[in-house]
Amino acid sequence: MKVLVVGNGGREHALAWKIKQSPLVSQLYVARGNAGIWQIARKVDISPTDVNALVEFAKKEGIDLTVVGPEQPLSEGIVDAFEEAGLKIFGHRKNAAVLEASKVFAKNFMKKYGIPTAFYETFDNEDEAVDFIKKMGTPIVIKADGLAAGKGVVIAHTEEEAIETVKDMFGGRFGEASKRIVIEEFLEGEEASYIAMVDGEELVPMATSQDHKQVYDGDKGPNTGGMGAYSPAPVITAEVERQILEKIMYPTLRGMKAEGRQMRGFLYAGLMIGPKGINVLEFNVRMGDPETQPIMRRLESDLVQHILDIIDGKIKDVQPVWSNKYSIGVVMASKGYPGKYEKGFEITGIEEAEKDPDIVVFHAGTDIRDGKLVTAGGRVLTVTATGDTLKEAKEKVYRAVEKIHFEGAHYRRDIGDKGIKRLQQDL
Ligand code: AMP
Ligand code: GLY
Repeated sequence: MKVLVVGNGGREHALAWKIKQSPLVSQLYVARGNAGIWQIARKVDISPTDVNALVEFAKKEGIDLTVVGPEQPLSEGIVDAFEEAGLKIFGHRKNAAVLEASKVFAKNFMKKYGIPTAFYETFDNEDEAVDFIKKMGTPIVIKADGLAAGKGVVIAHTEEEAIETVKDMFGGRFGEASKRIVIEEFLEGEEASYIAMVDGEELVPMATSQDHKQVYDGDKGPNTGGMGAYSPAPVITAEVERQILEKIMYPTLRGMKAEGRQMRGFLYAGLMIGPKGINVLEFNVRMGDPETQPIMRRLESDLVQHILDIIDGKIKDVQPVWSNKYSIGVVMASKGYPGKYEKGFEITGIEEAEKDPDIVVFHAGTDIRDGKLVTAGGRVLTVTATGDTLKEAKEKVYRAVEKIHFEGAHYRRDIGDKGIKRLQQDL
């Protein structure tokens, strides 16, 4: 069958890499992709958000299945448009994608259905927001309502910073996305990502993982889209997972169905696990980036078969098989990211790094210019490794990272450390 992957990042490279391995797939296409994905899939030169052009392409080319990576096309109705045209697609419809596209919706939804989340209020004007900040004290968390590429959340440590952030957001820092904001209580603890494939009221868990959102080691500095991830995440013990399913995942599916917003696709709960229990920081209606990269390295069964079974209403039959190895993905980013950065620097050393069969390098912001592989985004690559232990996976991944070069490359050196510490404590 012909499969189309929609999206341009490391997540999409990992999905395409896995989909390509399926014996069901004869031809793989990507819209628009990156230099890594173009090595394994045919490039379709259409933007992931140009829904009408994608529908036309899929009809003309006879695409049998489309898998959507990022949130933007989902929240713009790509699934609704494909379904109306009688095309098979995996992802949430627009009315369900709102769970990620609006943090105000997500918070009010969680409150209504008793899903644990930080105490909050929503605001559309500065004066009330400032009063709330004064009442709550700091640290405090301020979130733009709409999509902001993972950058719409500010943790303010002083009242001045909090008020400045509110002014900035209402002043249009994220355009329409920050016309409304959520202000919420700061939660302590360890973060983890819980992702499942869902259909209606049923779900199939993916392997657990942990992202590293802040740009610098030790979780310092501003938030990014994610600087690295590993799987499984030892903070999600069997008991923690039981609670996540019972108190968060199933109530979310039932609640969304009750609201007339039935879900089908990937559902991602970003969690804070700490003294206040397990709380939802955010929902995403897609796989995480970079979590997908280490997760796909551990999936042994056929992702395409799983997706087809879910679309055909057979989610109860879906039983993914996971490798019992650990995997780690380290993001190599452009100088300046998550702020301003330059593009166009040559990337070398990937082949050398991939000589180790346990290493796979997924591209994110890459392009080909004058026949050379060059940087073309903030997050450039995710280098992944597998190992029998988390520590071994970490050692391998950093040996590989050191072989890859581009001007100004930066990356965190502590991806996996929280898991390694936790495992040693448990031993
Ligand atoms: P979000 O996009 O809502 O997941 O927020 C991005 C990041 O900000 C999270 O991954 C956390 O690192 C941090 N964060 C968000 N909300 C809170 C909170 N209530 N308490 C502490 N940290 C938070
Ligand atoms: N890695 C976090 C996200 O994909 O939202």
